[in-house]
Amino acid sequence: MNKKTVRDIDLRGKRVLMRADFNVPLKEGVITDDTRIQAALPTIKYILEQGASLILMSHLGRPKGKTPELSLKPVADYLGKLLGQEVKMAPDVVGDEVKAMADALAPGEVLVLENTRFYGEESKNVPEFAEKLASLGNVFVNDAFGTAHRAHASTEGVTHYMPGVAGFLIGKELDFLGKATGDPDRPFVVILGGAKVSDKIAVIENMLGKADKLLIGGGMANTFFKAQGLEMGDSLVEADALEMAKSLMAKGGDKLVLPVDAVAADAFDNAANYKVVTVDAVEPGWRILDIGPKTVSLYKDILKTAKTVVWNGPMGVFEMENFAKGTFAIAEVLAELDAVTIIGGGDSASAVAKAGVADKVSHVSTGGGASLEFLEGKVLPGIAALEDK
Ligand code: 3PG
Repeated sequence: MNKKTVRDIDLRGKRVLMRADFNVPLKEGVITDDTRIQAALPTIKYILEQGASLILMSHLGRPKGKTPELSLKPVADYLGKLLGQEVKMAPDVVGDEVKAMADALAPGEVLVLENTRFYGEESKNVPEFAEKLASLGNVFVNDAFGTAHRAHASTEGVTHYMPGVAGFLIGKELDFLGKATGDPDRPFVVILGGAKVSDKIAVIENMLGKADKLLIGGGMANTFFKAQGLEMGDSLVEADALEMAKSLMAKGGDKLVLPVDAVAADAFDNAANYKVVTVDAVEPGWRILDIGPKTVSLYKDILKTAKTVVWNGPMGVFEMENFAKGTFAIAEVLAELDAVTIIGGGDSASAVAKAGVADKVSHVSTGGGASLEFLEGKVLPGIAALEDK
C-alpha cells in the first residue's frame, strides 16, 4: 500500500480521531454480529499502546436526523467489554460538550462519538462540519474500509483539516484485494452472483480484463440466458439489461462461464415445489432460485486449478434453506482450495459465515459496497485522501 499507516507516525501523547466502520446489525439494542468491531481492534489497541488518547467515530444505519435507536452507545459499551476498560460515550457528534470531553481525555482513554449520520452534513461532506470533527483531535486515522467508498465528512472531509493515515484493517483489505486484482497468482478465478446483473456490470467489465475465468451465478445469470433466447418462466430477468448482457458475453467469450443447470421452484417460497432443471427447460410459472448440482461440479473443476479466487454475491436465494445448497457448496469448495480465497463483504460474507467456513478462507472483506467498488477499479475516496508514503 502506498499510503502512510499508523506505524509511520509518532502517536505518543496525540489525540487520535479514528474513523471506524461500526455499522453493525442491532436487534433491540443488542449487537448480533460483531465482526466489524473485532476487525477494528488491532488498530484501536495499537493506538492506545502507543500512549495516545482515542476518539472513535462511525455511522450506524442511514438515520434521518437524531434517531435514538441508531445510537452508537451499544457499540461503546461492547467495545469497553472487549478492551476491558471504560469507553466514554459522547452525547453528540460535535459541540461544546463533546469538545470538552475530547480535550479532557488522558493518554490511553477512549471516547466514542454519536452516530455521525445524525447530521445531514456528514453525507453531504460539508466542510464546516468536517472542520468541527477535525478540531477534536490532532491526527486522523481511517480504518473504516467498509465506508471507504463514501466521500463523507468523517471519511474524506476531515483530511482537509488534519493529516490522515490508514489503520491496519484498511492495510489488510488493500493487501488482499490489491494483490488479487493487480498481480494475482494465476489462474485467477472470479465468482460473481447476486440478483441483478445491472449492479455488477462495472465489476464484470473490469474483471474480464484481469481474471482467467469469471463464473456467474445467482439471479443475474437469468438475464444472460434470456439474452441467449432461453425461456426463463417467472425467473427474475432484467429486461433493460439484455443488450448489456449480450455485449458482456461477446466480450467475455469462453472466459465468462454460465450455469448449466438450476433449481427451479413454482413460487418464491422455501415451501414451494422445486426441481433441478437444465437452463433451457424452465417451465412457465417456474423460476430459478439456485444453481444446480452439475453447475456446482463444473465450477468446482475450474476452481480446483485456481491459485487466486475472489467471490462476490450468492449463487441463489441462500436465505431460504431449499435454495442455499449451491451457495454453500461453493463456500465449501473454496474452503478446501490451496489458493488465496477472498470473499467480498455483505451477502457473500454472511453466506460463508452461515456455511461455517469463514475461518477457512484467506480473507473475508468487511466492506460490501467498498469491495465491490474496488473490484470495479474505482478509486475509494476515503483511502485516496490519506497521506502518501
Ligand atoms: C456498509 O455497511 O456497507 C457500510 O457501512 C456503508 O454503509 P452505507 O451503504 O449506508 O454507506
